[in-house]
Amino acid sequence: MPDEAVAAAYDAVAELYTDVTRDQVATDPYGRALFTAFAEQVRGPVLDAGCGPGRITAHLRDLGLAISGLDLSERLIETARSAYPDLRFDLGDLSALPHGDGTLGGIVSWYSFIHIPPERLPSVFAEFARALAPGGKLLLGFFAEEPGAQPAPFDHRVIRAYRWAPDRLAELLAAAGLTATAWLLREPYPKERFRQAIVLAERHRPDVFR
Ligand SMILES: C[S@@+](CC[C@H](N)C(=O)[O-])C[C@H]1O[C@@H](n2cnc3c(N)ncnc32)[C@H](O)[C@@H]1O
Repeated sequence: MPDEAVAAAYDAVAELYTDVTRDQVATDPYGRALFTAFAEQVRGPVLDAGCGPGRITAHLRDLGLAISGLDLSERLIETARSAYPDLRFDLGDLSALPHGDGTLGGIVSWYSFIHIPPERLPSVFAEFARALAPGGKLLLGFFAEEPGAQPAPFDHRVIRAYRWAPDRLAELLAAAGLTATAWLLREPYPKERFRQAIVLAERHRPDVFR
């Protein structure tokens, strides 16, 4: 699915999406727990990659991070800029981050990589690894599939998305030089359809003793 289709789909529902997800952080204690764990470990600038209306970006700013947001959807970027004028939000693509090699202390991809077709995800994770400093942290939120299962496309309410088995995702992360260090798998909250997962990963550090 071309990225333009994803951008157009989110542009078309930007206002509704912003309304529907208004209480997203307040109603998700497990998400908040992992945002805190991430914030406590990150050193240096952080990118919220696929930031949508910017609520997670603002929450992580409130936890003390130097963070900016990036998204494909022009309408959502406008929404984020007007809601949080103190934060920086840029139009951009997860597949080609406008950051130099090793310049980010952390990247969050909170339900944003879910729209990337599985065959393209390895190159997106490679892009995350490129932009992260050694030891940099990556936080992923996504819809979970059964362990070992192939990524499963489903009719996400905005545009097609994929559920991922956490173990398969960890293999892709490892291939990109990112080690999964913490996992959270939870049952759906009321009104959710699927199990949800959070993974915290770390960019490999060079082995100074080798
Ligand atoms: C389910 S929403 C999540 C938004 C935000 N992370 C949140 O939790 O509120 C997915 C977001 O990812 C963005 N997105 C999807 N594919 C992207 C890509 N290739 N590059 C940048 N943003 C992307 C969409 O435009 C949308 O804002």
